[in-house]
Amino acid sequence: MQLLALLFLSLAATACSSGTATSLPTALNLANTFSQLTSELDQISFGSCSVANAILPVNNTSVQLPVPAAGLGIKYIAIGRGTQNYTCSSSNSSIIPVATGAAATLFDASCFASQSMTLLHELPAMIEQVPLGSLAFMAMILGQVTNTTNLIIGEHYFNAAGDPFFDLKLTGTDTWMNGAKNASATAPIRVATPADANGKNDVAWLRLVSTAGNAIKEVYRVKTFNGNPPATCAGQQGTVLVDYAAEYWFYG
Ligand SMILES: *[C@@H]1O[C@H](CO)[C@@H](O)[C@H](O)[C@H]1NC(C)=O
Ligand SMILES: *[C@@H]1O[C@H](CO)[C@@H](O)[C@H](O)[C@H]1NC(C)=O
Ligand SMILES: *[C@@H]1O[C@H](CO)[C@@H](O)[C@H](O)[C@H]1NC(C)=O
Ligand SMILES: *[C@@H]1O[C@H](CO)[C@@H](O)[C@H](O)[C@H]1NC(C)=O
Ligand SMILES: *[C@@H]1O[C@H](CO)[C@@H](O)[C@H](O)[C@H]1NC(C)=O
Ligand SMILES: *[C@@H]1O[C@H](CO)[C@@H](O)[C@H](O)[C@H]1NC(C)=O
Repeated sequence: MQLLALLFLSLAATACSSGTATSLPTALNLANTFSQLTSELDQISFGSCSVANAILPVNNTSVQLPVPAAGLGIKYIAIGRGTQNYTCSSSNSSIIPVATGAAATLFDASCFASQSMTLLHELPAMIEQVPLGSLAFMAMILGQVTNTTNLIIGEHYFNAAGDPFFDLKLTGTDTWMNGAKNASATAPIRVATPADANGKNDVAWLRLVSTAGNAIKEVYRVKTFNGNPPATCAGQQGTVLVDYAAEYWFYG
């Protein structure tokens, strides 16, 4: 499992050298994170793990999201990495960006969740640092190291009707959901960074419920990292893509 730690280290190095606008943790923070990760990863096996005992962190926002409907059980826990999309009709500081949708790749996080909630909850912040263009490469290497082919379990996007859609057919099952927002909670304020002085850049936590679908009835987006738009459209024009990552919890 040392290989995995090395892999994460090299991913962080990739993120560091990518020169993206996102601020990056200092070398010391990275070193601390990775020594912690190394010990935690030593415990972890990959493949599909049971997430039956994982506890949804709904208590972690000041206004709590409603809990899943009675009778539903947790089916998958994934890390989504992609963009929250906005549009600015003109570069004008008196206009605010309008949300138009999102797109994200969904990575199986069941084995993280079954072993260490702490590590699971650290993944969004880590994976948000991996440039989008490196994601497929990351999944391929990770798949080879862990001898799993199904690390990517699906995708999340907005369909032609403008609804949030989750396609989990890469799990090898006919699992999908067309959703509608049921509840939203402001993400907890986190430690300020140079790129996020107020610690408020994380997109809201959500409960989405099915309007159509198969095998899943509700999706929670929690432990978000980045994704909120700039405060105004000043200096922005047209489409504004904001990188983000989050945990997605699927109930059915
Ligand atoms: C979290 O909230 C749920 C629902 O309100 C409650 O049943 C549970 O005891 C809470 N857990 C903790 C650890 O506070
Ligand atoms: C959320 O969890 C973090 C650590 O996981 C904790 O520091 C924070 O106080 C929690 N916030 C709430 C509102 O429970
Ligand atoms: C910015 O928007 C405001 C309000 O819509 C408008 O009055 C103003 O003329 C706009 N400024 C520019 C530079 O477009
Ligand atoms: C959002 O942006 C992604 C690029 O990250 C793009 O592929 C997708 O089509 C966009 N979706 C919407 C609804 O704007
Ligand atoms: C990788 O997985 C395949 C299919 O599950 C198995 O046949 C093979 O022996 C595994 N290889 C290693 C090195 O574990
Ligand atoms: C959210 O779902 C609950 C049932 O769990 C329902 O009572 C409530 O009306 C829904 N709220 C919205 C805004 O859809």
